[in-house]
Amino acid sequence: MSRKIIVTSALPYANGPIHMGHLVEYMQTDIWVRFQKVNGNQCWYFCADDTHGTPVMISARSEGIKPEQLIERVYAEHTRDFKNFHIEFDNFYSTHSEENRQLSELIFNRLMEKGSIVQSEIEQTFCESCKMFLPDRFIRGVCPKCKAENQYGDSCDTCGAAYQPTDLINPACATCGTKPIIKKSIHYFFRLADYQQQLKKLIGSGYTGKSVSNKLDEWFAAGLKDWDISRDGPYFGFKIPGEENKFFYVWLDAPIGYMASCKNYCDKNGLDFDKVWNGKDYELYHFIGKDIIYFHALFWPAMLMGSGFKIANRLFVHGFLTVNGVKMSKSKGTFIKAETYAKYLDPEYLRYYYASKLTDGVGDLDLNLDDFVAKVNSDLVGNLANLASRSVPMLTGKLDSKLGALDKTGRELVNQLIGVKQQIISDYENLDYASVIRQITSLADAANRYVEQNQPWSTIKTDAEKTRTTLTAVLNAVKILAVYLKPVLPVFVGKIEKILNIAPLSFADVGALLENHKINEYIRLAERVEKDKVNAMTEESKNEQPQPALEEPIEPECTIDDFKKADLRVAKVVKAEKVAGADKLLRLELDIGGITKSVFAGIAQAYEPEQLVGRLVICAANLQPRKMKFGVSEGMILAAGTGGKDIFILGIDAGAKPGQRIH
Ligand code: MSP
Ligand code: ZN
Repeated sequence: MSRKIIVTSALPYANGPIHMGHLVEYMQTDIWVRFQKVNGNQCWYFCADDTHGTPVMISARSEGIKPEQLIERVYAEHTRDFKNFHIEFDNFYSTHSEENRQLSELIFNRLMEKGSIVQSEIEQTFCESCKMFLPDRFIRGVCPKCKAENQYGDSCDTCGAAYQPTDLINPACATCGTKPIIKKSIHYFFRLADYQQQLKKLIGSGYTGKSVSNKLDEWFAAGLKDWDISRDGPYFGFKIPGEENKFFYVWLDAPIGYMASCKNYCDKNGLDFDKVWNGKDYELYHFIGKDIIYFHALFWPAMLMGSGFKIANRLFVHGFLTVNGVKMSKSKGTFIKAETYAKYLDPEYLRYYYASKLTDGVGDLDLNLDDFVAKVNSDLVGNLANLASRSVPMLTGKLDSKLGALDKTGRELVNQLIGVKQQIISDYENLDYASVIRQITSLADAANRYVEQNQPWSTIKTDAEKTRTTLTAVLNAVKILAVYLKPVLPVFVGKIEKILNIAPLSFADVGALLENHKINEYIRLAERVEKDKVNAMTEESKNEQPQPALEEPIEPECTIDDFKKADLRVAKVVKAEKVAGADKLLRLELDIGGITKSVFAGIAQAYEPEQLVGRLVICAANLQPRKMKFGVSEGMILAAGTGGKDIFILGIDAGAKPGQRIH
């Protein structure tokens, strides 16, 4: 009986590009999903962009666009990158969706009814200029412990101290530099501790691997704390039911995004979501990185327990990527975006390399760029592709493209390859891809040795049929290796299927021999990697500047009607004079068609008073008079510039009449 399996990867944040680190996870998962499919199981792979929260809101503001526009653009970039790297989701959705809103509200309401969510008042840092509550990461200041400057609100990068944002010396809003104030606000808290026993039971029953459950034991021992699941507006997210200006914290609706993606898929395909997501027939697995264990091993299952939903069969956790032995670094050029990689190198090479290093452990995984080049060239090009590239042209060129039958030694070689099938299947199932790749390379070695022993390039001159027999064994070996490699290298194997003139391969085909069978022309399978390409890729990565953020964020939107409220009139400057004690200001007397207004303008460094007298300018005539230190200003003339000498008065045709309305 084939299994029904649902798989998820963690949802990538919609405020940044997919990079080499992310790809560890998406490739690990995609390989597992493809393996399940090629092994005859029904397997669906769901994911989505994680769109809510403060970083998305701030990035959008600094670009002067709406969060909705930002996440739409990022969605297009992410899906493009995933497609390039052959990460094949059955559905890649968004947490900013109606399905997700409904499911989030449903789960929240059920948890409320159960008494698992309580309200309490907390103090929070608030920026009056940005008009928003500031998450810890958006406050900067001097570390209270080591006095290092420019540290985040939660911890110090220099001495490692952890503290509250209110402990910072000279705290400032990271966006605008204003000193934050403390504001009180009522928040919603999820009572995680109520679920401690159930969670312990879950972990004890093998929800995670050993090293992860050890980590969880430490957290249990320290005691589980209430979790703040609400944020005050403005916040890009879902409004909490019954609230005007409170929203779900992004991490509440993010994992629910797994369900929403599945629901969207079910609705599109006429399936019953409740049966699929919550039914016994389906197995469910989450893949994540080790930085988000707390959310997936504690908060998420507890939320599901409290709201009556099923919990995943297992949580698979992988380690972090290092490049050349250290954390990815922009200055070293090792913070490589998926997009940049794909410009220079074949994405399947990375799939092969990561697979050769991935195990079920949480240890970090190193992308060593020299080793990457060496391994791809020796294993993939030299060993695997070589088997086909030396056999196929001889068959198509000299032997009518026809395979013959296996002889005894050929049969032995093929049996050796068939013999490891169960081991390969169980290694894939248990995420030991490194073991799969080791076996594949050693089998390809054996097949290459077989070619050396039988010397088809010399027998072809004397004994065509002997040569056909040899090459038949080699291409049967290629076919079996292709099945084993298929989850890792779908395109490479697709080409082999085409060359061999066979239907898409699966594990069920391993034992079936290809004899007396006609094949197609050779297609190039893989090119050597040149180190130049790798260097060019890291050079380009060095030059990629982080997106420039606006120094001053764009103000909240105003409507065209707001804008039209300003009554703009042609005005004639009748008098202009310097203002004693204010070196930036000029006092102007304006004639607006019979009405005289006195206006202070900050243009003294750009214009001399005598230049202005008699000139026509544009005046915002209905501005509320404003009392300034030097007198009352009754309007404003239109001028723009970055300040100082760089200010320009907006002029108008000399024929315009003072008082005339401007549209
Ligand atoms: N949005 C959250 C996940 C929400 S899941 C309900 C998030 N996003 S992320 O973009 O930061 O990371 C997505 C996944 O990629 C995570 O599982 C994370 O561990 C993984 N990785 C991100 N950087 C990584 C490395 N440098 N190395 C390995 N995996 C990494 O977390
Ligand atoms: Zn601010």
